[in-house]
Amino acid sequence: AFSAVPGLRPHEHGVQPARVGAALTNTPFSVRMPVPPVLQPVVSTNDVDIYRIDIRHTNLEILPGVSTPTFTYGNQLVGPTIRAKTGRRVLIRYNNLLNRPTNVHLHGGHVEADNDGHPMELIQPGQTRWYNYPNRQQGATLWYHDHSHHTEAENVYRGLHGFYLIDDDSERGLRLPRGDYDVPIMIRDALFDADGAMLFGGNPAERNVILANGKPQPYFPVAARKYRFRLLNGATERTFNLSLGGEEMTQIASDGGLLPAPVPRTGIRLSSAERVEIVVDFSRYPVGTQLVLSDGATPVLRFDVVRQAADSSQVPDLLRALPVLPAATVNRNVTLSFDIAAFPPVGLVDGKTYDPNRADLQVKRGSTEIWTITNGDGQFGFPHNFHMHLVQFQVLDRDGQPPSLDDAGRKDTVLIPAGTSVRVKAHFTDYLGRYVYHCHFLEHSSLGMMAQMEIVP
Ligand code: C2O
Ligand code: CU
Repeated sequence: AFSAVPGLRPHEHGVQPARVGAALTNTPFSVRMPVPPVLQPVVSTNDVDIYRIDIRHTNLEILPGVSTPTFTYGNQLVGPTIRAKTGRRVLIRYNNLLNRPTNVHLHGGHVEADNDGHPMELIQPGQTRWYNYPNRQQGATLWYHDHSHHTEAENVYRGLHGFYLIDDDSERGLRLPRGDYDVPIMIRDALFDADGAMLFGGNPAERNVILANGKPQPYFPVAARKYRFRLLNGATERTFNLSLGGEEMTQIASDGGLLPAPVPRTGIRLSSAERVEIVVDFSRYPVGTQLVLSDGATPVLRFDVVRQAADSSQVPDLLRALPVLPAATVNRNVTLSFDIAAFPPVGLVDGKTYDPNRADLQVKRGSTEIWTITNGDGQFGFPHNFHMHLVQFQVLDRDGQPPSLDDAGRKDTVLIPAGTSVRVKAHFTDYLGRYVYHCHFLEHSSLGMMAQMEIVP
């Protein structure tokens, strides 16, 4: 209940508690987990791939036997996967067939401000718009999602999310698992009423159905060999504590790409929008073994080892060194909190709610900065989670203590438990203009827990 928006009673926005009383639940492991299909370009030239995606209302069978109205990219709850390449530009033409405005943000992407999906730059119903992504960044698991002003939480919750994976040829020689053995998995939650409608607006802690790639607690058949899994927390407001029954998951990457070296993990904390890449070696288990990935005690997904397979992949001892950032010349403090005296509550960054017309701070292009980000809601127990557009940062410490394994690598999103603070360091290289930073519990950002920086020459 601590993750609830303060003051917002469950199902405040026109959802009847009686219907929630009959909420649909799920029998685990009754459906197979799909892998979102890789989108084919409409056109490919020497250095550009051009895609087209329709954003639409779609009725989907998410829980067996019931139809659920959703918003989708393409026609699926987890949108088609874009497979980009470092150094190759991607252009995407989005066609908004919804009856409401939307836009698209490439989360973790290093893109020009005009193409960042600013909350006020919307695609109106019936309109189209192009986004232009240079992919001048190393291999990483990114994702795309709605970022419309005040409505991002609902739009993402209803299905506007998909993977955007950047492959980097310079990482080929590492021989990590590839092809069918490189599987993105989006984990999220939802609450369904007795008719199959996804309920939004209530207490996120009541979302009792866990979806992996858009299916409830599915199973996934695997071969007895190594797999690379790219895990994304696509829930709007939830933190997953993932484990594989105590078995080892070898972490190889976090938000912005590979770690310097693999790290053995048995538990991984993943807050909304964070990514972690793991390699699981199923050759350790006889065919017939079933391994359950869980969130605490709640099953998320079951891996069924069903066959033998050859495996020439490996997890080398060294992966990719982190960039060495220049010394910081600017230190800032940023505080995330709620004004709970207001109803509905108002989200604040440094005491102010989001104003799209205000630049909250200026950053000089080329500079390196250290930000101390504090969760100012210690007395109420609300966790927040901090995301900065444009850059990947490095976590220096938490409350003066060394960061945890969950903070390793190139990060763009970090959990900040109630009353704690985290120090991050970022280098602002090239692009100018307005970029937002915000709490990525999207119910909080939708209430105004967002601000923007202006990168200036
Ligand atoms: Cu994942 Cu500002 O967004
Ligand atoms: Cu928050």
